[in-house]
Amino acid sequence: MHDWHAPVSLTDKPLAYLSVIPQLSALVQGENNLYANLANVAAALKETFNWWWIGFYLVQQDELVLGPFQGPVACTRIHKGKGVCGAAWEKSQTIVVPDVHQFPGHIACSSQSKSEIVVPIIKDKMVVAVLDADSEFLQHFDETDALYLQKVADIVASLF
Ligand code: SME
Repeated sequence: MHDWHAPVSLTDKPLAYLSVIPQLSALVQGENNLYANLANVAAALKETFNWWWIGFYLVQQDELVLGPFQGPVACTRIHKGKGVCGAAWEKSQTIVVPDVHQFPGHIACSSQSKSEIVVPIIKDKMVVAVLDADSEFLQHFDETDALYLQKVADIVASLF
């Protein structure tokens, strides 16, 4: 895994994903504890991309509840439809937010966070969790992140 101290450059982004995704598959193989696997996936993504915050919220009844993550402390519960995470859950769609201040209802867990991507984890057509990544840089996430993080979401969905 790379030891990134700066944001991965645009051209390196697909390469970084192509390198880390097989590692994620290998990492979760042979372990059936959901939280252990989510924790390692979050850690591997943090180590590769050095995002401000990366982690999971898990669906429990009508709320998302904070799961394994890397980064500063975060809000523990998010209602369906609320914030970027709740919207991605409700719509069952990936949401890329280039500037969090332009997203109505964005939940600011950290004032440092400036852009965000949320990818739903879908199992049997139901959202069971969301993967959330935050950056301290504006416009940090794009369609490349959406494409590859959906592949990460597929790996994660197989853990549920
Ligand atoms: N910003 C998210 C909340 C979660 S934190 O970013 C870790 C949202 O609007 O749903």
